[in-house]
Amino acid sequence: MATNRTFTMVKPDAFSAGNSGAILSMIEKAGFKLIAMKITRLTPQTAGAFYEVHKERPFYGELVEFMSSGPIIAAILEKDNAVVDFRKLIGATDPAKADEGTIRKLYAKSMGANAVHGSDSDENAAIEGNFFFSNLERV
Ligand code: RTP
Ligand code: MG
Repeated sequence: MATNRTFTMVKPDAFSAGNSGAILSMIEKAGFKLIAMKITRLTPQTAGAFYEVHKERPFYGELVEFMSSGPIIAAILEKDNAVVDFRKLIGATDPAKADEGTIRKLYAKSMGANAVHGSDSDENAAIEGNFFFSNLERV
């Protein structure tokens, strides 16, 4: 089952711009089912832990600061081929390079403020879902 799940966040830029509903609608229309969802806010500590894998990268400080700058929506999604199909739906990390019709093309403002997160592997999807949700908080 884990191979059919991915994890996403509506990032602070999209949440504060009032684009959460439109983004969740695109996600559901693309065939993803909501398995778990919450509005929350990361602290610099929890954002740092979530993106620990990027710790040595030059953009890490900026990423942690941005991801803890306001509320987010975290969600676990289910669909066949969830991780790969969701990365296609969100588009490239840099919105200038994102394909037409993707979530980032429509809603991302920049490389940093890029509207949504999507897991990059089945293994990370499970780790990231477990970071935010207990078994009682998912269906
Ligand atoms: P995400 O994890 O948030 O879904 O994004 P992603 O897989 O498309 O990109 P990733 O390489 O995992 O990077 C995580 C976030 O860090 C910011 N970033 N900035 N300035 C840069 O070169 C740079 N590279 C990455 C982006 O906000 C990216 O979403
Ligand atoms: Mg990533």
